[in-house]
Amino acid sequence: MKFFEILDEMFSEFEEYKDIQKGKGIRGRLITIINPNAQKLAAVVEAIHLASLLHDDVIDEADLRRGVESINAKYGEHTAVMLGDIVYSRAFYELIDFGSEIAKIVSNAVYLLSQGELEDVRLSKNINLDKDKYMQMIYKKTASLIEAACGGAAVSRGFEKEPFMKYGKNIGLAFQIIDDMLDITQDEKTLGKPSMHDFYEGKTTLPFIYLFEAMSEEEKEKLKSLYKKKLNKEEKEWIKSRMQKYGVLEKCYNEAEKLIENAKEAIKPFSLYELEILADKVVNRKK
Ligand code: FPP
Ligand code: MG
Repeated sequence: MKFFEILDEMFSEFEEYKDIQKGKGIRGRLITIINPNAQKLAAVVEAIHLASLLHDDVIDEADLRRGVESINAKYGEHTAVMLGDIVYSRAFYELIDFGSEIAKIVSNAVYLLSQGELEDVRLSKNINLDKDKYMQMIYKKTASLIEAACGGAAVSRGFEKEPFMKYGKNIGLAFQIIDDMLDITQDEKTLGKPSMHDFYEGKTTLPFIYLFEAMSEEEKEKLKSLYKKKLNKEEKEWIKSRMQKYGVLEKCYNEAEKLIENAKEAIKPFSLYELEILADKVVNRKK
């Protein structure tokens, strides 16, 4: 993918940069499907995403990112924060060249995703059972940048931005719901980080919110006693068996699928089938 080459070129002078694990490039792929000539914009948005993950791994004290030592684990937190600042600042510098409409869409998303991260930290202090707060937080933390990526690409192509932003917002929300499900269903090897780590970190994601809603008082007490604890195999199995009993994961999956349908509906008139295929991949991924 050309945008990854542009991205690497931007930061080639920083030796620690080569140890950053790049991901699936979903934001960049979305941008270049909407506008194949927007490779540089795709690189800029991917840079912002990378910067946010560098900071996120410091905040979450994560030693692993995509199965490999995180930058904070390898070089220390100070380096990870500064490298994040370097990547973010350069992205912003490049963003200005795309004109004020695109620059505003993308920089507003960075403002939102920073707020989302703060809300995530706040919500992780105690068990959160408020679904609206969870949805609001994942919109800001994850969906806002995907929404902006699609909006910015649409503007650069001369399309109206609203349908594309609606598409991006909906797949962004679905993406995070699926991510939160995979944390429960997948093993450490597939995830590249410990399984069921969210609950340990204090995050009551959608499957846990639905589980608390469905459980008996006795089960709720037991689940509360496991909150923020390092879980053994048996405890993880117990949580999974309760989720199965109450059909919690299907409920989350159906919700994600509904969001994907809304996303596809929004961009239907544009006949961009690759966007529809990518939307389906978001819900049907295993990692
Ligand atoms: C991952 O969440 C985190 C994000 C998607 C956003 C993080 C945003 C910031 C740290 C704001 C600062 C950003 C900049 C550019 C200055 P997660 O912890 O749920 O996912 P994970 O399991 O992949 O770590
Ligand atoms: Mg994290």
